[in-house]
Amino acid sequence: GEDHRLPRIASTIRVIPDFPKPGIMFQDITTLLLDHEAFRDTIDMFVERYRDKRITVVAGIEARGFIFGPPIALAIGCKFVPMRKPKKLPGEVISEEYSLEYGTDKMEMHVGAVQPGDRALVIDDLIATGGTLSAAIRLLERVGAEVVECACVIELPELQGYQRLGGKPLFVLVKAA
Ligand code: PRP
Repeated sequence: GEDHRLPRIASTIRVIPDFPKPGIMFQDITTLLLDHEAFRDTIDMFVERYRDKRITVVAGIEARGFIFGPPIALAIGCKFVPMRKPKKLPGEVISEEYSLEYGTDKMEMHVGAVQPGDRALVIDDLIATGGTLSAAIRLLERVGAEVVECACVIELPELQGYQRLGGKPLFVLVKAA
């Protein structure tokens, strides 16, 4: 059966129609953060899944992967590495382009933060088209890490973003209607 914590987690996620533009139903996790029991349950569910998987790095995707990633990394006992928008990281970076609905964007990671042989968990709040997670996977694999799994709080299943993850497993707590 379904984990008893999931209905509460799902119910705390607010949906805002037409943000940031008409037709988009924005999945707002800031309301999940207002409910500390739902927030704790969310982190606990990820920690329970990953604590015995020999993860050595949690890679969090800007911006909301920076909210969920660090508590997971602390609880399972590994490093946290931020995957950022261009020109935010001060050190030497490697970067990967990914496609958006219109045009492209870039993701950057500090050189040396992830090492060959690292076992990575990639965390974000949401998977839509999967383009963002696919760029994170490429960055991690370019430096010799093994991507064990990608994990998100919410999936928009209609967009079938998991198909862009190159066969990497995806774990999600909530599927948006
Ligand atoms: C959202 C979300 C994911 C990404 C998923 O970020 O937080 O990072 O989109 O979309 P995809 O699966 O189609 O790639 P957003 O673009 O809102 O940027 P932000 O986190 O910096 O606000």
